[in-house]
Amino acid sequence: MATSDLIGSSPNFRTVLDAIEMVASADCSVLVQGETGSGKEVIAQRIHNASPRRHNRFVAVNCAAIPGALLESELFGHERGAFTGAVAQTVGRFQSADRGTLFLDEIGDLPVELQPKLLRVLQEQQIERLGSGRAIPIDVRVIAATNQDLWQMVQEKKFRADLYYRLNVFPIRVPPLRERKEDIPLLVEHFVEKFAQRQGKSIDHIPDEVMELLKSHEWPGNIRELQNFIERAVIVTTGRVLRPLIDEFRAARAARVLTLADAERAHITETLRETNWVVGGQNGAASRLGLPRTSLLSRMRRLGISRESFGVRTSLPEPENCRMSDGCLPVSHAPGLARAVSF
Ligand SMILES: Nc1ncnc2c1ncn2[C@@H]1O[C@H](COP(=O)(O)OP(=O)(O)OP(=O)(O)O)[C@@H](O)[C@H]1O
Ligand SMILES: [Mg+2]
Repeated sequence: MATSDLIGSSPNFRTVLDAIEMVASADCSVLVQGETGSGKEVIAQRIHNASPRRHNRFVAVNCAAIPGALLESELFGHERGAFTGAVAQTVGRFQSADRGTLFLDEIGDLPVELQPKLLRVLQEQQIERLGSGRAIPIDVRVIAATNQDLWQMVQEKKFRADLYYRLNVFPIRVPPLRERKEDIPLLVEHFVEKFAQRQGKSIDHIPDEVMELLKSHEWPGNIRELQNFIERAVIVTTGRVLRPLIDEFRAARAARVLTLADAERAHITETLRETNWVVGGQNGAASRLGLPRTSLLSRMRRLGISRESFGVRTSLPEPENCRMSDGCLPVSHAPGLARAVSF
């Protein structure tokens, strides 16, 4: 990922960017901790890209994805005949990352029996391939990452304290997206642009209401979840206005805790959708909600609900291309206009 792709300017994310800048040239071990999908790997890459090692390799190993028995040889390499099936000499990831950076992802899943071996390599800066007694000097910077509470694992004797201290020379905590909601609009715009470009589309409007809902969601899967959501939204968008799948978003919204104002906004919006944005009259939203028309209008103003914020379009798409199940709701057809509310 290019360095410029690390999006975010909230105070919480600025703290992370400042830490990256500080540690990049220090050449010490870094421990990146954060929830799933919060951006640990891109942060590790950014540290490498900003360090004097940037012209050499950034090698990533996922300690959880490689079975324990193979991980040792994967990290340190092996000689031919070192074990059954070792038909050729293999260079390990440490050696591949020589003069570069080794990213040890999911370090909390490193088997206990491998932990002292890793510690020794880090302390001595040399490796021995399996089946060889020869020490090979290496010059590797290690960045480790985990979504587990590594200190808690140390307390529970699941992770060695000495290795923890060796890796945790410079800790970086990546805040989850719910702690930096100010970054959501920037991220949404970035992902819409990225996926629209990739899919050859031109999307230049994200309805305010959509953005408000995206900002108010808790995003347990963090940036990866938001990114996937936007990718799907771009896929189903046929015009210039972003059109996320409403059913999916309803499910996402149902999974979060609503504030009273959120719940009120959602209920009023839902009713307005059902009445095709007709407020007054016998079948209008005000009557359904048991409110005088003027009260509903003033609540809509207070909660920032307006038909425009739903991206009412005056030409695209034609109603017949617009499936209700995709969250595309045709509204009243003024003569000569094919209008649709999309969301
Ligand atoms: N600040 C950011 N700006 C733009 N994209 C980001 C940012 N942070 C993360 N991403 C994107 O979000 C996705 C998840 O990021 P990443 O893989 O680094 O997370 P992670 O914390 O390593 O996740 P996991 O714990 O699941 O391994 C990636 O596609 C990445 O490109
Ligand atoms: Mg990761």
